[in-house]
Amino acid sequence: MKNNIKLIKRIQSIIPSHIKPKFTNEKDLLTWNQKKGFLSSRSILIRNKAIKIQKTLEKSGIKELYLNCSFENYKVFHSGQEKVLSSAKKYVKNFNNELSNFIFSGKPGTGKNHLAAAIGNYLILHGKKILIITIADLMSKIKKTFQKNNNFTEEHFINKTSKVDLLIIDEIGIQKESNYEKIIIHQIIDRRSASKKSTGILSNLNYNSLYKLLGERILDRMKLGKSLWLNFNWNSYRANVSAKKLQV
Ligand SMILES: Nc1ncnc2c1ncn2[C@@H]1O[C@H](COP(=O)(O)OP(=O)(O)OP(=O)(O)O)[C@@H](O)[C@H]1O
Ligand SMILES: [Mg+2]
Repeated sequence: MKNNIKLIKRIQSIIPSHIKPKFTNEKDLLTWNQKKGFLSSRSILIRNKAIKIQKTLEKSGIKELYLNCSFENYKVFHSGQEKVLSSAKKYVKNFNNELSNFIFSGKPGTGKNHLAAAIGNYLILHGKKILIITIADLMSKIKKTFQKNNNFTEEHFINKTSKVDLLIIDEIGIQKESNYEKIIIHQIIDRRSASKKSTGILSNLNYNSLYKLLGERILDRMKLGKSLWLNFNWNSYRANVSAKKLQV
């Protein structure tokens, strides 16, 4: 109390006459301090949130080319693109409320990864954990757990993939999936669906070919909840993407 009064007096004695002090009495000083404290704790909170988002983004598997992908920069030239864009937007809006698996199927370069990354980026900003991984990377991570001296088991890895809020498996159908791969995909989707966690699949295959490749058990689980099947059947956009952007 005494110290505060002393402090105010000292400030008043050194402050140039043309400057209006922020406080002239103890009550004002207290209010000023509280305001400052609130602002600095708010800025710490914002900084912590940004650090958390950055870390989640780094772990998300979203590649550099897709880091800036959003709903806003997905261009619409026809009704097919309009449909996939509006469905993807609706998907994130309802994400909290329901289990909703999705399959984006269609031709190369049509924006399946663009919209998957837009979904991922949006959800990360809203505090969700997501992972986008190609089936090849997923299998190689699982195969690494077989190596000697690796105390991270296949089970650990499958459990890890079942923790994220949204898992997107990319490039299904690029090569013929083995029976072992099918069992792993089945286990992952089954475990995630059981805990009401959504999974997405990106593929160039159409329904019949995916059905043939993955089998009824997997596709049936993908249909759980309010599932979404989107077809991307138009020409590739890749020719419009600048070479500079593709080099990143
Ligand atoms: N409608 C669009 N508006 C803006 N950019 C787009 C659009 N469609 C695709 N792109 C861009 O084109 C490039 C190729 O798209 P993307 O990688 O999403 O295709 P894909 O459907 O996943 O292809 P693939 O089946 O070969 O993996 C990306 O840089 C993406 O951002
Ligand atoms: Mg792709």
